[in-house]
Amino acid sequence: MSLLCLGIETSCDDTSLALVKDGRLVGQATSSQVELHALFGGVVPEMASREHARLIGPLCDKLFYDAGVSPDAVDVVAVARGPGLLGSLLVGVAFAKAFTLGRGTRLVGVNHLHAHLLAVGLEQELCFPALGLLVSGGHTHLCRMESPVVMPVLGRTLDDAAGEAFDKAGKMLGLPYPAGRHIDELANEGRASANLFPRPYLDNDTLDFSFSGLKTAMSVYLAAHGKPGANWDPASGETILPQGEARATLADLCASYRLAVVETLIAKTRKALESGGMGDIAALALAGGVASNSLLRQSMRDLAARFGKRFLAPSPALCTDNGAMIAYAGWLLARQGLCHSLDLEAIPRGRTVP
Ligand code: KG4
Ligand code: ZN
Repeated sequence: MSLLCLGIETSCDDTSLALVKDGRLVGQATSSQVELHALFGGVVPEMASREHARLIGPLCDKLFYDAGVSPDAVDVVAVARGPGLLGSLLVGVAFAKAFTLGRGTRLVGVNHLHAHLLAVGLEQELCFPALGLLVSGGHTHLCRMESPVVMPVLGRTLDDAAGEAFDKAGKMLGLPYPAGRHIDELANEGRASANLFPRPYLDNDTLDFSFSGLKTAMSVYLAAHGKPGANWDPASGETILPQGEARATLADLCASYRLAVVETLIAKTRKALESGGMGDIAALALAGGVASNSLLRQSMRDLAARFGKRFLAPSPALCTDNGAMIAYAGWLLARQGLCHSLDLEAIPRGRTVP
């Protein structure tokens, strides 16, 4: 059965709408608020929801216009129902309900975290069961992916997410927000020292993570040795990076910090692969904004090869928040006959999304 699914993502600071038909991306329209929130060094929830409300209508028009598709052709509307910022989610959910009611389509609420892990299906063949590591600015989750709907969480961060570990360290180093990409690029120039930063929360029996100590370790290091001199001005958007020896010091620090985050993620993923009941895992899936990290991608690929598993990771454009992953996840659910009524609720961070 041919199905056209409109996907709506407004869970955080990206307003993104996309169309997926028969498992393939037909079009996408996105507006990122990153520059707005960069001024404050993090997402300001009230401003995020106001921006979503301002942008969602025009972006929807643009999506259909650019794709050359009529809104009447939509069979299903999929919307990220959570977890996320409540005000931001409500904008998407209300818009999805209005579209559903106005055009007589079906409605399906999508778990944002599942959508991240499923996004790779737009580019590679999905297989189940898989072990999924979702690493973003807000989440660090290890999941057993049984199917597009059933994904029990095996472990999660108890405090900061992996992306936050990068962003907070980057702030201390004077790098632009969000800092993950900048740390990754500088790290590629530097030499990592394995002893500079700890591999936190590995000495226990759980598959949980704890990254908050890493930023403290960076802060202690900088207090003792001084800052290597990067200077980002959020108002102008300009960054002055140090030159010569100071730049080499900055690059080495980034490389050491990146290594600590990546080795911690790999250690727990490896532990999950070695734990009982994982023998039937067919693939290792990596997703979320931090999945763009070059060292993490390579290390996960190597880990998958060592265990004889397929490695699944979306290209960087599909790693960050996007409407395509919601449209694709919604399309998978709708294809199985799943849908929601107009009572669909937005579910904020901290509550489980069914
Ligand atoms: O998935 P995402 O776009 O948004 C959330 O749902 O949080 O992830 C954003 C996060 C930020 O913390 C950002 O610093 C991080 O992904 N990030 C990276 C890289 N690119 C983005 N972290 C490490 N290395 C990268 N190359
Ligand atoms: Zn996300």
